[in-house]
Amino acid sequence: MPYQTIEVRKLTPHIGAEIGGVDLSHPLGNQQFHEVHDALMENLVVFFRGQKLTHDQHKSFGRMFGELAIHPASPHAPEGHPEILTIHADKNSKHVAGEEWHSDVSCDAEPPLGSILYLTEVPPEGGDTLFASMYAAYDKLSPPIKRLVEGLTAIHDGEPVYRGRFGYAATEKGFPKAEHPVVRTHPVTGRKALFVNRNFTTGIKGLSRLESDALLEMLYRHCETPEFQCRFRWQPGSVAFWDNRCAQHHAMWDYFPQRRHGYRVTVKGDRPF
Ligand code: SIN
Repeated sequence: MPYQTIEVRKLTPHIGAEIGGVDLSHPLGNQQFHEVHDALMENLVVFFRGQKLTHDQHKSFGRMFGELAIHPASPHAPEGHPEILTIHADKNSKHVAGEEWHSDVSCDAEPPLGSILYLTEVPPEGGDTLFASMYAAYDKLSPPIKRLVEGLTAIHDGEPVYRGRFGYAATEKGFPKAEHPVVRTHPVTGRKALFVNRNFTTGIKGLSRLESDALLEMLYRHCETPEFQCRFRWQPGSVAFWDNRCAQHHAMWDYFPQRRHGYRVTVKGDRPF
């Protein structure tokens, strides 16, 4: 795809591209906004380097793509910015956000369209984020398994993660829990993507526990195929913007006890179909 206002350097054939020529601290012009959006649709996750963003600038960039979501459980928002999720790890951390393969908040009835993570501090080594294409995961299933999973519905539950792993308290509405098709169709590209993940998916409706666990484990391992992935090495001031409808990610926590710090905004999405 020809781009006129941005430079796009693909990281792998399936997923990931670094974008140059954009300053996210200023509102993007119409053409540049459309090109960034097209690059995201084409590459599933796009990366920007050397950015310097206030919370308001970060939120303004996110709002160009839709209304911002407030995380259903995490208490770590900077004062006055409930739409911002602080991502932080140091020598006192027992867990870090995203340390398991997942798509963000898939336990919500309308999971996010995407997330925009801006890191200000990174460890000297490690702390990369891995992203995997769920289009590739669907496309590479064999025809009989495609037919098996096409009509299935999965249950996604936030409680085991938010209460079980992180010890967060439930909001008045409790922890989010939702049912979604195992194969969803992307509302923009029309492509099919696998939509189950180790973090939030707890079962498949209508199957026995044995059948559900075995099928999910097979799908998770398939989703984690290295050929479907790219790996991003962060620098202070890097930004990653991923399409949560067709990509999963996994934050590598290989840098304990070093610090890693940044902020995420999350753009609201639609009910998967
Ligand atoms: C997340 O899941 O949003 C965290 C990703 C990361 O820290 O790299």
